[in-house]
Amino acid sequence: MKELKIFGIVAIFTLVLYWGVEPFAHSQMHKHIESNNFVYTGAADIEEAEAAKDEKRAAKKKAFWTDVAKVAKIKGNVAAGETAFATCMGCHTGLPINMGGVIPPALDHAGALYDKNYLIALIKDPAMASNVDHKYADTTTHPMGSIKMMMSDDQQIADVVAYIMAKKAGEVTTKEAFSEACGRCHAMRYAKTSQLGDTPTFKYKKDELAHKIKVIEEQDAVKAYMGKLPPDLSIIIRARGHHFMETFVENPQGQLLGTSMPRTGLTHEGYEKVKTYLEEVGDPSKPAREELGPKVLLFFFVFTGLAFLWKKSMWKGHH
Ligand code: HEC
Ligand code: HEC
Repeated sequence: MKELKIFGIVAIFTLVLYWGVEPFAHSQMHKHIESNNFVYTGAADIEEAEAAKDEKRAAKKKAFWTDVAKVAKIKGNVAAGETAFATCMGCHTGLPINMGGVIPPALDHAGALYDKNYLIALIKDPAMASNVDHKYADTTTHPMGSIKMMMSDDQQIADVVAYIMAKKAGEVTTKEAFSEACGRCHAMRYAKTSQLGDTPTFKYKKDELAHKIKVIEEQDAVKAYMGKLPPDLSIIIRARGHHFMETFVENPQGQLLGTSMPRTGLTHEGYEKVKTYLEEVGDPSKPAREELGPKVLLFFFVFTGLAFLWKKSMWKGHH
């Protein structure tokens, strides 16, 4: 009887901890963030500045995003945009040359990966668009910040964006989506990629070591720019839930106030591609596991049937 009472008390405490205290602590430590469906209007940014009682920053953000919405209404000219796009290619060369902290990403699929409003905002002011303006006293010092001076005409911005949406879209592989949107900062050890892209296979040890040194130098540059080395994302998809990942990529500041990771401006489809790649690399056995499930169930059904028949035949005549 005494044992039963002790057991009862232990059980009650365990259940209270499990259903009461743990979820409460969780809700206090991780505030719930609503997804904004990968729509970039600046609403979250303005709210954030208002919540921080920073009236000046809130007003600046309001004016900025109102301006972006104005450009979004201008009809862009694709042919004129192609000419203006040369300005972008001055930095986005596709070569592994670090510019102010990172290697500018390839823009081959920018029209398929990024939101149109976000692209307009990015050309108007990259630090404001990616919600990292708090890092700069003068946002033109962002590594892409000089674009503000190079392309200040609203019609020209509309043209370039129209060109990107029309001609730099097309099919994107999951790997391309990752490397264009995240690869300049995040390595994926399991996929043998670093901030320099795919790691080649080397015939000689000394070439392999020389490459390793280059990777370390690149990582040092990224670290100096970001304040810390962005984590390897090989198994992030298993460490973090889908809701966290989605809302974090939409607006890193919303989940991790003060973080140096910029918002990347992906559309929902663009993010789905990146997510699929993270799953392919971080959880490669998932499709096999999912395929195995029904087979295991089928096996149990058949086995139960056979066991029943076997029992019946063994007991025949024993009654
Ligand atoms: C002065 C060099 C420079 C110029 C000119 C430039 N960029 Fe960039 N761009 C960069 C750098 C550097 C980054 C990476 C910034 C970062 O990760 O913080 C970048 C990032 C980007 C990204 C990824 C942004 C994101 O948040 O995911 C896009 C898209 C982009 N640029 C488009 C353009 C377009 C379009 C133009 C021309 C209108 C252009 N860039 C002109 C240097 C430049
Ligand atoms: C310009 C550099 C940069 C780019 C581009 C970038 N990140 Fe990050 N990311 C960072 C930095 C820096 C951190 C560390 C943030 C911190 O701890 O404050 C980080 C952290 C993260 C984390 C960890 C969050 C956590 O709390 O565990 C995830 C997940 C992540 N990034 C996903 C992505 C994905 C997905 C992309 C592409 C869509 C991407 N990042 C693009 C710089 C970047």
